[in-house]
Amino acid sequence: MSKILITGATGHLGSAVVNELVEKQGPANISVLVRDLSKATALKEKGVELLQGDYSNYQSLVNAFQGVDKLYFVSSNDIMNRAAHHENIVAAAIAAKVGHIIYTSFQRKTDDASSPIAFIASSHILAENLIKASGLKYTILKHALYADILPMFMGDQILNSGVIYLPAGSGKGSFTSRSDMASAGVAVLTSEGHGNKTYEISVSESLSFYDIAAILTELSGKQIQYVAPDAAAFTAAMKQAGVPDMGIMMSVSFCTGIEQGEFDFPDQTLEKLIGRKPLGMKDFLKQTYKLS
Ligand SMILES: NC(=O)c1ccc[n+]([C@@H]2O[C@H](COP(=O)([O-])OP(=O)(O)OC[C@H]3O[C@@H](n4cnc5c(N)ncnc54)[C@H](OP(=O)(O)O)[C@@H]3O)[C@@H](O)[C@H]2O)c1
Repeated sequence: MSKILITGATGHLGSAVVNELVEKQGPANISVLVRDLSKATALKEKGVELLQGDYSNYQSLVNAFQGVDKLYFVSSNDIMNRAAHHENIVAAAIAAKVGHIIYTSFQRKTDDASSPIAFIASSHILAENLIKASGLKYTILKHALYADILPMFMGDQILNSGVIYLPAGSGKGSFTSRSDMASAGVAVLTSEGHGNKTYEISVSESLSFYDIAAILTELSGKQIQYVAPDAAAFTAAMKQAGVPDMGIMMSVSFCTGIEQGEFDFPDQTLEKLIGRKPLGMKDFLKQTYKLS
């Protein structure tokens, strides 16, 4: 059986991949890369092999990647240092002669600096290019915008306030649950035929915040309205409310991206990979906002 190594295993996506993989084939031949072993108690209990390593420490990665057939490489969440992290991981995978590298990238329409999310996209583009030039067998999973981060943008009080207030216009996104993305990763890790392929990983319909407000209205029985200010009005309102600049910048960048169609990629590949319908927005909102 192939030796599989999962990075980012203490995070949301990586841990979901480990859990599903262990359920499917047991813990033998599964290793996880962890930078802080004290966070890995749950992983240890699953019986997988723990390897210590840090994306900022090249040699720790080379050591951890020895003998690995399939490397599930979770993109770094450290935006400031992400490019250097991604360079280290790909260089270490080459040095350790990893058999197959599976990278969790990011959907976007625009690859150049004109993109409102260029600061996020650039280190994904870098990783994709390094991987393609590496000579290693690869699969690039271009993940949709996580449905799971929508509540962070919309706020946890929308059912009380009755308003979604975001500068995303009538733009649509194919928002997809992180758990389905984990299932796509498991499918690629446990089946053949994915070498040197790039997959769009998203649900098959795109929705605007008008659509999301309508679904929430139907589910809650309360009128939920979507109000779409422009970026300047949104920024002024958030500053007035005391939201930190970083939070405002992230909301404006992602919402401008949504408005411009950067995340509008309805696709069937995810459904084919996991062999079932991915979680739809209605069920996602039901679970998230505890609505029946
Ligand atoms: N498509 C989207 O909408 C979207 C949204 C959010 C994030 N993302 C990307 O998808 C990735 C996975 O998402 P997630 O929700 O699972 O993120 P997460 O919960 O923040 O997990 C990130 C993982 O990366 C590990 N990590 C960070 N820096 C590291 C380093 N220097 N060395 C080794 N490991 C390191 C973290 O380890 P610790 O537990 O030790 O911190 C954690 O296990 C993120 O890292 C980010 O790049 C995509």
